[in-house]
Amino acid sequence: MTSTSELIFFVNGKKVVEKNADPEEVLLSFLRRKVGLTGTKYGCGGGGCGACTVMVSRYDRNQERVVHYTVNTCLQPIVTLHGAAVVTVEGVGSTKTKLHPVQERIAKAHGSQCGFCTPGMVMSMYTLLRNKPQPTMEDIREALGGNLCRCTGYRPIIDGFKTFCGSEPSSGCCQNGGGSGGKCCTNSSKMNDSEERDISQELFSLDHVLPLDPSQDLIFPPELMIMEKKLIGDALYFQGERVNLVAPFELSHLLELKAKHPAAPLIVGYTTIGPKMLLKGVHHPLVIYAGRISELSTLTWEKNGVTVGAACSLSTLKEEVERAVVEMEEEKTRGYRALLQTLRCLAGKQIRNMATIGGNLLSANPKYDLSSVLAALDCTLHVISKDGMRNVPLNEKLFTDFGKTALRPDEVLLSVDIPSTKPWEFVAAYRQAQRREFAFSFVNAGIKVAIREGSDIVESLNIYYGGVGSTLVKPGRTCQQLVGRSWGEDLLSEACRFLKEDVDVSPMIHGGKAEYRKTLTISFFFKFYMQVVLEMRDRDVSDVDLPLEYLSALKPFKNEVPQGQQSFQLVSKAQPSADPVGRPSMHQSAFQQATGEAKYYDDLPSVQGELFIVMVTSTRAHAKIINIEASAALKMPGVVTFVSAGDVPGTNRRLWFNNPEELFAEEEVLCVGQIIGAVVAESREQARRATEKVQVTYQDLQPVFFTIEDAIKHESYFEPKRKVERGDVDEALKNAEHILEDELYMGGQEHFYMETQGLIAVPRGENEEMDLYVATQHGAFTQELVGMALGIDSNKITCHVKRLGGGFGGKVMKIASLSAITAVAAHKTGRAVRCCLERGDDMLITGGRHPFLGKYKVGYNDDGTIVAADITYYSNGGCTLDESAFIMDKAILHMDNGYKIPNLRGHGVVCKTYLPSYTAFRGFGGPQGLTVIESVLHEVAVRCGLPPEQVRDINMYREEECYTHYKQPFCPTDMVRCWDECLEKADYRDRLRAVRLFNSSNRWKKRGIAAVPQKFGVGFSKGFYNQGAALVNIYKDGSVLVTHGGTEMGQGINTKVIQIASRVLEVPMSSIFIKETSTGNVPNAAPSAASFGTDAVGMAVKDACEKLMRRLQPLMERNPQNTWKQWVNEAFFQKISLSATGFFMGPPTDVDWEKGEGHAYYYFSYGACCSEVEIDCLTGDHKNIRTDIVMDVGKSINPALDIGQVEGGFVQGVGLYTIEELQFSTDGVLMTRGPSQYKVPALSDVPAELNVHLLANAENPHAIYLSKGIGEPPVFFGSTVFFAIKAAIAAARRERGLGETFPLSSPATAERIRMACQDQFTQMASSPTDGTSPPWCIDV
Ligand SMILES: Cc1cc2nc3c(=O)[nH]c(=O)nc-3n(C[C@H](O)[C@H](O)[C@H](O)COP(=O)(O)OP(=O)(O)OC[C@H]3O[C@@H](n4cnc5c(N)ncnc54)[C@H](O)[C@@H]3O)c2cc1C
Ligand code: FES
Ligand code: FES
Repeated sequence: MTSTSELIFFVNGKKVVEKNADPEEVLLSFLRRKVGLTGTKYGCGGGGCGACTVMVSRYDRNQERVVHYTVNTCLQPIVTLHGAAVVTVEGVGSTKTKLHPVQERIAKAHGSQCGFCTPGMVMSMYTLLRNKPQPTMEDIREALGGNLCRCTGYRPIIDGFKTFCGSEPSSGCCQNGGGSGGKCCTNSSKMNDSEERDISQELFSLDHVLPLDPSQDLIFPPELMIMEKKLIGDALYFQGERVNLVAPFELSHLLELKAKHPAAPLIVGYTTIGPKMLLKGVHHPLVIYAGRISELSTLTWEKNGVTVGAACSLSTLKEEVERAVVEMEEEKTRGYRALLQTLRCLAGKQIRNMATIGGNLLSANPKYDLSSVLAALDCTLHVISKDGMRNVPLNEKLFTDFGKTALRPDEVLLSVDIPSTKPWEFVAAYRQAQRREFAFSFVNAGIKVAIREGSDIVESLNIYYGGVGSTLVKPGRTCQQLVGRSWGEDLLSEACRFLKEDVDVSPMIHGGKAEYRKTLTISFFFKFYMQVVLEMRDRDVSDVDLPLEYLSALKPFKNEVPQGQQSFQLVSKAQPSADPVGRPSMHQSAFQQATGEAKYYDDLPSVQGELFIVMVTSTRAHAKIINIEASAALKMPGVVTFVSAGDVPGTNRRLWFNNPEELFAEEEVLCVGQIIGAVVAESREQARRATEKVQVTYQDLQPVFFTIEDAIKHESYFEPKRKVERGDVDEALKNAEHILEDELYMGGQEHFYMETQGLIAVPRGENEEMDLYVATQHGAFTQELVGMALGIDSNKITCHVKRLGGGFGGKVMKIASLSAITAVAAHKTGRAVRCCLERGDDMLITGGRHPFLGKYKVGYNDDGTIVAADITYYSNGGCTLDESAFIMDKAILHMDNGYKIPNLRGHGVVCKTYLPSYTAFRGFGGPQGLTVIESVLHEVAVRCGLPPEQVRDINMYREEECYTHYKQPFCPTDMVRCWDECLEKADYRDRLRAVRLFNSSNRWKKRGIAAVPQKFGVGFSKGFYNQGAALVNIYKDGSVLVTHGGTEMGQGINTKVIQIASRVLEVPMSSIFIKETSTGNVPNAAPSAASFGTDAVGMAVKDACEKLMRRLQPLMERNPQNTWKQWVNEAFFQKISLSATGFFMGPPTDVDWEKGEGHAYYYFSYGACCSEVEIDCLTGDHKNIRTDIVMDVGKSINPALDIGQVEGGFVQGVGLYTIEELQFSTDGVLMTRGPSQYKVPALSDVPAELNVHLLANAENPHAIYLSKGIGEPPVFFGSTVFFAIKAAIAAARRERGLGETFPLSSPATAERIRMACQDQFTQMASSPTDGTSPPWCIDV
């Protein structure tokens, strides 16, 4: 290879010249580690989350203009950026100079909680505005489609951004700014005059926001423009440690290179090859970059169609086709419309900007969408090599196997001809995925039929399916046999019969769901059949009867931008205007988060000599460790050491309430993913590569099982088992009019906090001191465990927690073990060690929400009264107890929800299996406990033929003083108020009627509506945790520094604490600062969990501030005219301490499990939620139409933050109950280890209308300023979507004469919905297994 070229590009207006650019280096790590721009975040490393989004600008010589587009930096090799200008979030605006309006508005609209996704959101929106200063709502939706947020529920982000919308009617929004409070036409208030006037819907004000000012934008560097204009045909060569890259400029050079190095992959977007090389360890010593060859990037329209250069991005293709369908005659564009249908849902915007049509086709991955639709359109590939050019038809013969095509290795795809459609050709494309947008399809299809002109006779038929085998599938017989037939009902039934035989989906197909996939193939054809009938009827060549109620099946669900109202009670007029408590204050570090200035643990600059650690994990589920051989790893470049159990100077155990768990597995492994050792190296890449060289010899052990059912068979349980009983269940069951025995399975959930787990351990080199900068929700536990592992006292270990990029309960336990392991490595090497889990490792190692199985026997009467219920909850605890016992406690303590079931018994059993240990997750067992009882209510209503809300109504606790099933007194009045208000605000009864009407007039689309109340215990049932501590220092300049034991993870605890301190000290919020949470300042703090953070530390801060005020009081009284600063100064000179600790001792909650009674919770929070959905019975797709929530947060300390928690929690619940599906292999290997396989809600999953109301006139005497904790309860509201889906499926089944009672596990995935809507197509697809082939994955 010729000598390495100089790489030139710009970052935020500054020129970067890299003389030795490494082809393996992606822009993300370059920005973060070399340039020190840490605003761009790592969330997944595979293009699946958008956290790493930046804007790339290039001068386009063909268009003679600069083009701007977003990319995912985690997949963007720097060497492909020659001549480009990169703008990161830091280049957009800053708190030090000037914020950009995008940054200001997302912050002010409360669109940033933990803030980890915020820079990516900002960059997507910023780029949109660079291209279109007055975007439509649809533009915004599209721009954000590739950005995930795990905290907010997206609505506030949209609210901030929609203020940039233009005024055209199609934008769906009013004028810029939407007026005060961000209110615009889409938020029109339904509140009438008669309603209380102290209710507000203004969560933020845009009265004084910055206008969009293009002069603030960085200009495209003229130098690059000149460079591009002058560009001569030099190739670029880059030589790395392991990989070389050539970027030819001339096509002939490319062909020469391909002839010489046929095995070297040709890359353009790097979105297929990149994840393989970066995440899956695939190694290519030479890579050829074809993105500079102009012949590959041209797109030309001709009479009969368009020729698209292979290197055209999918965004370019989409834009061109969008233009064409507007400009061209309708009949010519049918194929393009079908293609657009696919392109709109394919990946997210950033990936479409990078990915190319050539790469999509030649990756030969059947789950990629373009092959099926383009094959159906009879496209032709122009393929070129040194030997010349040839045309290759795009059909099933092109794809020889998974990832393989019939092209020769030296051949290059030059372009693709996409013909326009002829007058009698009809085309459609279909895809169905786990999530409607930004998700690979399970099955995709392209179908085209040519009808003989003026008739209904089929002349030719193309059907192509992706996702049903290892290559593109054409059901050849079906296509042939139908030629010459009339397009009518006979053809339909023949087609279904042939398809059934032609399409063979193996039960072992990658990703599983074989029957569902097969059903989709037939269902898609049925949709196509109806569409063509309609077209032909329009042309008077068909008299096939197509019932009106079938037609809605043809309308795909539209992805909408979530809108809604949020209302809350204003503070009383008597409250001083300077007192911020009760007002919707912006998250205290929202500006820093929006500018990328906010620091997370991995943003801290490296400490001198810093090393990196990567874990070596077990590949067996249950085995004896015979040997660990690390010598090969130790010989790898940069490797410093290998650590394992023998290196732990203290104890290799994590003790949690006397339950031990090994840090490093010593003799035996109990699950795949258990940590056995770790490689410590100079860089993270070196450490990661070396882990693959560590050889572990195992001897498999028995038994091995993973599911709850198998654990029950093996009687494999953890202690303690729990039981609670009220009344006499057995007797009541005998006397009940009816008995129902059933069960509900609820799958687990991955936390998917956007920031993966990690820390930096820094030995201080003196007295064995060590500092840890760590993303933990429980610093004290981490400190304690590190101390135990190192055999060092806690007073020498300090944990610093600035903020977390989301926690959701997942950063309490495992992070302590990771910290101890990292600390051991730091101790052994004497150097700082950084641990930052890759997304896949995080998902594999750290566990998530417990799967639950609820088995119940219920006695009920005809009127829906439930007289007795006996429920046994089984959870899958995984291989160690972790917090499982407490989580089970919470489940059975919530099993009554809001219902006074007089005879109620609950058993709780945690199953021990050979899976990674499950742990705390927002709600902590509450959602599972509540869902099972709600399922009971739902099923009883169905069996009684009563509306479910009526059954809920009559069973609800109503008296002023009620008792839970474990005898804790409470007053349900506010729950009943929430319930009544929710049904009223949701127009529940009218909408139920409308749903029924809709269902009676739509055959293949059905709607469902469901509502649930909620009673949720706040606080720890282990009473000693209900404590909080704080330290408040006042400095001589009057500024105040607060430290408390809670951790800021997006919930806004610091903001609320500052509001509280501001009220007590009577100083503005801007004078109060919270630097970090540190075990050195506040010792022994409880975890930030159980919705109790603000309750505990808020009280402690109040206590400390009150102490200080008592000290200052005499000075204030003596000199009332003085300022705060003067009083503080005087106090200093009078030797009055300006530092105070505060403490809060919560109530002694506890449960006597012998008696099954106690005071488990500090208080209860209440709420109610109602959701409406629509399902597509043919595909299993669903759309969340509307959700209304009324939530009791007492007297809110900060309504904006509380509403943010409600919306975010609810949307996380929507994920839990509908799309988040973890798949384990039969060997216990988690296969869903990244956002490509595991889908958390994206923008398209948020209900089109989401209304949240905080209950007015609700006061909670038990907590700080009459407020209530709110973090956890809203998750359960996601179950309304589940029950609404169930009701919709029941409507479909009723119509088909099937039973309305049927099993439906959570999550209600597209597969489960489709297969529960049984019909002729599901029957055709059913293939009873012979029991010999193992399932692809198991429900654990
Ligand atoms: C997060 C994510 C989500 C995605 N979602 C979807 C989705 O929903 N639907 C979907 O269809 N796809 C999806 N994709 C896949 C994406 O569309 C493809 O990765 C992309 O189109 C490949 O193009 P590329 O230029 O990036 O290919 P590269 O990775 O650069 O190359 C891919 C392959 O194509 C070959 N190749 C490329 N161009 C040529 C050529 N001109 N001649 C010969 N060989 C060539 C290369 O040798 C290589 O093997 C997704 C990808 C990611 C990362
Ligand atoms: S980190 Fe790049 S998309 Fe997730
Ligand atoms: S604010 Fe979006 S991930 Fe936390």
